[in-house]
Amino acid sequence: MPYKTFAAILTLFVLTLSSNPASVSAHGGAKGIVKERMELMKDIRKAMKSLGAMARGKVPLDSAKVKAAAGRIAQHGQKIPALFPKGSTKGVTEASPRIWQDFEGFRNSADEMVAVAREITGQSDNAAALKATYRRLGKTCSTCHKLYRVKKKR
Ligand code: HEC
Repeated sequence: MPYKTFAAILTLFVLTLSSNPASVSAHGGAKGIVKERMELMKDIRKAMKSLGAMARGKVPLDSAKVKAAAGRIAQHGQKIPALFPKGSTKGVTEASPRIWQDFEGFRNSADEMVAVAREITGQSDNAAALKATYRRLGKTCSTCHKLYRVKKKR
């Protein structure tokens, strides 16, 4: 590879890394199950983005894509409680101690997200329904985050 090409690729790589310093510094030290649940949440966010683009009409409604994204959120949601064992608060976590003071409530919050995601799976070819249900799904994220997540300064 000519040196110039190599240098250009390297620059691009460094730019890509530094364009998102928050996520690098905030989660760089996460390990084990904390890291696992962060990855899971990030994948949930990705699926949400895919749904959101269709709900807002930015990309055409694609029933298969809706089902895939909502299905992924539902599946991930079922795993949430198990990814928060007692005491898993070491290091760079944003999990609030409240999770373990009210684990039932936390679990219900996850179930709520799963239920709404499943509703979406059942109406995957209806744009108007998707729009409304997508909004409700977004509320299940923020409800849980408000109660059980402490946003750390980045
Ligand atoms: C049952 C509660 C609950 C629900 C529902 C929930 N989250 Fe979370 N989420 C959390 C908690 C707790 C954390 C912090 C985890 C940690 O730092 O250990 C978190 C962290 C995150 C993060 C940050 C991950 C990282 O890299 O640190 C993202 C992104 C996220 N959630 C997206 C979503 C989206 C999008 C939804 C809805 C579709 C959602 N979450 C639903 C509890 C929830």
